[in-house]
Amino acid sequence: MLLQSRLAADLARRAGSLIADALGQARSVSFKSEVDLVTEVDLAAQALIVEGIGDAFPGDRIIAEEDDGRPDEPELQERGCWYVDPIDGTTNFVHGLPHVAVSIGYVEAGRPRAAAVYDPCKDELFLAQDGSGAFLNGRRLGVSTTRTLDRALLVTGFPYDRRQRVDAYLAYFRRFMCAAQDLRRLGCASLDLCYVAAGRFDGFWEWKLQPWDTAAGWLIVQEAGGLVSDFDGAAYHPRLPRILATNGHLHAQALEILAELSRAGS
Ligand code: IPD
Ligand code: CA
Ligand code: CA
Repeated sequence: MLLQSRLAADLARRAGSLIADALGQARSVSFKSEVDLVTEVDLAAQALIVEGIGDAFPGDRIIAEEDDGRPDEPELQERGCWYVDPIDGTTNFVHGLPHVAVSIGYVEAGRPRAAAVYDPCKDELFLAQDGSGAFLNGRRLGVSTTRTLDRALLVTGFPYDRRQRVDAYLAYFRRFMCAAQDLRRLGCASLDLCYVAAGRFDGFWEWKLQPWDTAAGWLIVQEAGGLVSDFDGAAYHPRLPRILATNGHLHAQALEILAELSRAGS
């Protein structure tokens, strides 16, 4: 196993235990925007992870959600870049809803190499390494075999500008609601991706996610046999603002709907 995979798994578990202990009991909740929260637990979990990576790989770049400033693209071509979301699903966390994760993705020269997503409430550790498959608590993962959208269970999320762009996001929700068997919105994008990898969901779409939300799940879906792309089918990378992940069989059908929505101006 790559040293990076081992480290990501270890740090995700350690940060996860801080989160599970504090679920629903955050003392200081601040608002980064009108609907975007951060707590002292996000900061403590991030500090633990960043320190662990810095000790083991001092030359690597770390891009973590609760750092100040949003870096631009150049890190994608660098060797050794870590993307860290200390609590993915902070709104769930604050409300005591046990559906949150620690997400750590390691990318080298634009290529995802190692990933760990840990759900401390269900003690589920999703791991992947480039070319070696994806695993949940040691069991190999594979995407679902669903071949038609009308049998598919899909998941999505609503970005932080949802109040401003409610009609656009609901147009997509409405169209997929009519095409799929059913839809969910669970509030933790990294787990949405892992659940596609595990065959629990057949597909996922969302806008305006950040690289720390998707870098780990991107690899986990691919290593489980699924596909990840932009809404127009172009190859995915974690700086893209739109993501579609499916079991592969449904990708063309979902892309057709996304193209139709884009032509309609949504
Ligand atoms: C959020 C979650 C949510 C998604 C949002 C993300 P955060 O991350 O992943 O599912 O819909 O777009 O920002 O803020 O809880 O780390
Ligand atoms: Ca997140
Ligand atoms: Ca977060």
